[in-house]
This record gives sequence, structure tokens and C-alpha cells, in this order.
Amino acid sequence: MKLLVTGGCGFIGSNFIIYMLNSYPDLSIINLDALTYAGNLENLKDVEQYSGRYRFVKGDINDRELVRFLTSEKPGAVINFAAESHVDRSIMDSSVFVKTNVLGTQVLLDACREYGIERFVQISTDEIYGSLGAEGAFTEQHHIAPNSPYAASKAAADLLVRSYHKTFGMNAIITRCSNNYGPFQFPEKLIPLMITNALHNKDLPVYGDGMNVRDWIHVMDHCRAIDIVLRKGNSGEVYNIGAGKEFQNIEIVKLILLRLGKPESLIRFVEDRPGHDKRYAMDASKLKAELGWEPVMSFEDGMNETISWYMDHESWWQRIKTGEYQAYYQEWYGSR
Ligand code: NAD
Ligand code: TYD
Repeated sequence: MKLLVTGGCGFIGSNFIIYMLNSYPDLSIINLDALTYAGNLENLKDVEQYSGRYRFVKGDINDRELVRFLTSEKPGAVINFAAESHVDRSIMDSSVFVKTNVLGTQVLLDACREYGIERFVQISTDEIYGSLGAEGAFTEQHHIAPNSPYAASKAAADLLVRSYHKTFGMNAIITRCSNNYGPFQFPEKLIPLMITNALHNKDLPVYGDGMNVRDWIHVMDHCRAIDIVLRKGNSGEVYNIGAGKEFQNIEIVKLILLRLGKPESLIRFVEDRPGHDKRYAMDASKLKAELGWEPVMSFEDGMNETISWYMDHESWWQRIKTGEYQAYYQEWYGSR
């Protein structure tokens, strides 16, 4: 079986590629990634041992001819991770979010339709549902009410995927996952930003009062869920993914400081994010009941492992944070 994975040099995509190549000896993967600021070839250094089973193609999912060329090779499935993924950046400028997340998804869908690709999996997010009050959790039936430009672009892509299934009978599935954490996450997102700032005794910027709640899942549990959906999911369905680990942001920040033995005086409450969603919580009972998925990583173990990973991989994030990464990357990629 051959897969076409898009956005495989980012956080979740790279973890997924490593997991799949390690799990399935007969599987081969083509990774199409534009290498934006969030894409990093270094994440996939270890899969180069799988020469013949892994191929990297640098390119944009909006490049229709390139996408047609790759889908004409008839991969068994296309899994779309490629996206602009950071809410704060979408508030500063939403145009690239619409371009990649909406128009790019449309390019992929058109190519899959043209070449009769047997399965399309769209990697989506709980953020398309909007914000919850103190009680309850999002089910797949919850209305779609995105509040950030990022969430709106992902919701638009979901609706396009749905429409290609309904209109053209395309075999397409949408997964919607809660907030991920784990190795290779770009240090602009809450957990890696706080770990890396704390390690350098820098301030930890907490938006608003720090009481907003996110539902956390380890990236490997997300990858296992995608694998199950890919193999066993039903066409046209949406599957929520979440591990049911809800925490206020301030709880996460204090936990990181405690684990690192750093003082809470590093916490700095800053101006709130505009349109900041108060609470997310996922009801993943459909995925559990119908496809038999369960998260296996405890939050305690997952956070310990993640904190250790950032401590052990300072050169990986240090280059990103100091801006040296671009130069380093040019050199590294140029030599290949
Ligand atoms: P990321 O920002 O770490 O990685 C995105 C990857 O996509 C990068 O490698 C980037 O180079 C690539 N990319 C961006 N634009 C592209 C384009 N036009 N063409 C080709 N490649 C392009 O993101 P992530 O956190 O790994 O998220 C992956 C997917 O999962 C996204 O679709 C995101 O919406 C979704 N998601 C993320 C989370 C989370 O907590 N991180 C939760 C739920 C869903
Ligand atoms: P983030 O990791 O950006 O994910 P998302 O906005 O997609 O949920 O943010 C997670 C939570 O942490 C969110 O409530 C915003 C908050 N946050 C901060 O308080 N400070 C920060 O510096 C960042 C990046 C996020």
C-alpha cells in the first residue's frame, strides 16, 4: 500500500509518518510538504533508513499540476495534514490560511476525484465547533461555529470534503482532534513555548486570566486514531478524537514549571487573544464504540516524556527560536 501524506514535515504529520513506516513493513509513503516556517526535514531524519519506502517531495498543495502528478501514481489513500495551524498567526493575517487550508484542500479533492483515489482523510480540529461553556463536550453532531480565522478555514475545508462525498460519492472521512502535544511541536504553541521559555528562564506569557480550558491528547494517540480511521473508518463519516484530559492553561503552565523546578514568578499574564475560545472538550465515544480506538498514553507520562524530549533536543528548538533555523535549514537541505 502507498500513501500520499501532505504536510508530513510538521508536528503531527512527521509523527504519523514515523509511526506508520515503523508499524507497516509493506507500506510506502510520499510526503508532499511546502516546508513553510513550520515544516522541518530534520523531524524525518530517522526515516531515511527506509529508502524505497519513503519519498519527500517539496511542493505546495496548491500546485495543481504537482498534486495531479502525485495522485496519478494512484496512492491507496491521501491524508491531508498540510495546513497553516496557528490561531495567533491567523489573527495577524488570514490570507495564507484561506489559501492553504481551503483552496489547497480543494486542489487535493479535485485530484483525488480525477484519479479515483480510494480514500481521502482530512485531518481537522475541534476548533471548528467553536467554544463550550462549563459543561458538556463536542459530539460530531454539534453545530459548526468557528471563532478564529484558523478555525473558519478548517471548517470551510471540512465542508468542502463533505460536499465532495455527497456530490461526487468520494470516499472521504474527516477526523477532528483536540489539542495535541508531544515531540516536534513548533515552539509557538502553548506547551512547547512554555517548556522552552522556562528552560531559558524567560517569561511565560499566559493570555487573559489563564482559565481557558483545552482538552489534551498525546500526538501518538492521535496518530493511532488516524491509522484506525484510515483502515476501518466509514466513508462520509466524521470522527472526533480526544483523550478527555481537560486542563486550564494556567494549570499546564504551573505543571511545566514544577517539573522543571522553575519559579512561578516566570508567569506573565498578558493581553488576551481576541475571540479566545473559552473551553474545548471532545466526545470521542463514536470512534471508541465503532472502531475500537482508545488512547493509551496517560497525561502524566506524556507530559514527562514531552518535557524530557525538549530538554534533550535543545538544538532542534534553539535554532527555531533564535531564527538561525532558516540559515541552518538552507545549509542542511542544500547539502542533500
Ligand atoms: P504544523 O504547523 O506543525 O505543520 C503543518 C505542515 O504543513 C508543515 O510541515 C508545513 O510545511 C506544511 N504546509 C503548510 N502549508 C502547506 C502547503 N501549502 N502545501 C504543502 N505543505 C504545507 O501543524 P500540525 O500541528 O502538525 O497540524 C497538522 C494538521 O492537524 C493541521 O491540518 C491541523 O489543522 C490539524 N490539527 C492540529 C492540532 C494540533 O494540536 N496541533 C489539533 C487538531 C488538528
Ligand atoms: P495554542 O497552543 O495556540 O492552541 P489553540 O489556540 O489552537 O488551542 O493555545 C492553547 C491555549 O493556550 C489557548 O487557550 C491559548 C493559550 N496560550 C497562552 O496563554 N499563551 C501563549 O503564549 C500561547 C501560544 C497560547
